[in-house]
Amino acid sequence: MENLNHNPVTMEQGDTDFENRVVAPEYSQEDADVENPLRPRTLSEYIGQDKVKENLSVFIEAAKQRKESLDHVLLYGPPGLGKTTLAGIIANELGVSLRITSGPAVEKPGDLAAILTNLNPGDVLFIDEVHRLSRSVEEILYPAMEDFALDIITGKGQMAASYHLPLPKFTLVGATTRAGQLSAPLRDRFGVVLRLELYSPDELARIVTRSAKILGISIEPDGALEIASRSRGTPRIANRLLKRVRDFAQVVADGSITYRAAKTGLDRLEVDKLGLDANDRRLLNALIKFYNGGPVGLETLAAAIGEEPVTIEDIYEPYLMQIGFLNRTPRGRCATRAAYEHLGLKPPEPADDGQQKLF
Ligand code: ADE
Repeated sequence: MENLNHNPVTMEQGDTDFENRVVAPEYSQEDADVENPLRPRTLSEYIGQDKVKENLSVFIEAAKQRKESLDHVLLYGPPGLGKTTLAGIIANELGVSLRITSGPAVEKPGDLAAILTNLNPGDVLFIDEVHRLSRSVEEILYPAMEDFALDIITGKGQMAASYHLPLPKFTLVGATTRAGQLSAPLRDRFGVVLRLELYSPDELARIVTRSAKILGISIEPDGALEIASRSRGTPRIANRLLKRVRDFAQVVADGSITYRAAKTGLDRLEVDKLGLDANDRRLLNALIKFYNGGPVGLETLAAAIGEEPVTIEDIYEPYLMQIGFLNRTPRGRCATRAAYEHLGLKPPEPADDGQQKLF
């Protein structure tokens, strides 16, 4: 299998501060170091996503029995849930090589043609952020996926010539956080579509315990559960918090991650019971204290806390919406009653909470 470190997605990251948040689900260079030994290599080592695993194991077994390549697989769901890991497992279970790239890294049709013509029969090609492929690249992907061939046109006018170049049969594993942004023709060419879900605290605790063992960290079950419950349902965050908490356990305790050591470390990192960090709370506090909980426009809210609107939309809001703390309404952003309660603030009376009364 090709080294997963070579994931070009790592190169896409900028260096703005929010990306260094310990609770960011996005891939960072640091994850490349820590996650590699932690990535499970087989379906049986992979914790959680039971429905996905059950179905995948059947499809993989069937393809192996028929000595065919596995049908193309689309993995979608929030970042940090293990899409790249699953692609590696699929290749490993099939006994083939994995080739990794990403939508923005494949700039020209020729880039994709070069990758495809270098595959061996049965190989897995993983394209992360597959919704970001350009239209011209997508167009050569269609015949490649459907007929395992490249249709290439060279020259212009009278010199134009078209070539039909057969390719080895391969499996495309596409990953996206935004299934809705995938073009319909591309989506239709995936035979297997799997949705990854956020992990339960119990599953994350098992992942943290497994990771601690691999890294040689001593951890108690309630220490693992404390890290798990503040990890926003995301293994990438759980593994990152494990590393940070280990530092606290080493320096301020006896090195073992007990419940107390985990709690102290996470409190010092300002990651609260629900996995919100100081920035999340700053946003909610501004929304509630400056704008009575909303509705307030995105631009106004962004200016109030000194962030770019796109940062709020892509980085902070998804999780706040997921846990029911913030709503996007046509009139602007609104904090929910649960957000007030979490911050220890008194929610407004029902009559003036921004909802229109019917009677
Ligand atoms: N590390 C990251 N994700 C994992 C998972 N789902 N199972 C086991 N270890 C993991």
